[in-house]
Amino acid sequence: MNISYLEFSSLDELPADDKELALAAIGAMKGAYAPYSNFIVGSAVRLEDGTIVTGANQENAAFPSGLCAERTAMFSAGAAYPDKAMVSIAIAGGSGGVLDASPASPCGACRQVMAQYQTKGGKKMSIIMVGNGRILKFYRVDDLLPFIFNNI
Ligand code: THU
Repeated sequence: MNISYLEFSSLDELPADDKELALAAIGAMKGAYAPYSNFIVGSAVRLEDGTIVTGANQENAAFPSGLCAERTAMFSAGAAYPDKAMVSIAIAGGSGGVLDASPASPCGACRQVMAQYQTKGGKKMSIIMVGNGRILKFYRVDDLLPFIFNNI
């Protein structure tokens, strides 16, 4: 098995469409509602027609009822554009709303959801993890979640 990814040291090194998506994820951080963790995350999904759908983490006093930024964005995209494949997702976040130096890495549950939308859409979904001064790009969800459970 080979896992490949690219590493960048600034947003300006990214291809134009990836930079746009990364900036959309950073911009989406303002929609976070995270009064419990104060960890602010934004995400942006690009559909096959170029449309960008954003999301941010939403927390709740009944803790399991909240949702990560990535799933907020993907479920929103899935609900609004059910026939459009999701071809890329960018994630940005940091404590108190300050972009973390470490690239924002999606949790396991979000990876599982990415994997299924990748299968549903029939196109590779790239993942762009945005950090301050360090950005990682993976070309497909399989690289983040190999041997995926999939029964569709
Ligand atoms: N969170 C995300 O939104 N995405 C991730 O990839 C990791 C974690 C959120 C969930 C929770 O609101 C807060 O960050 C702290 O875990």
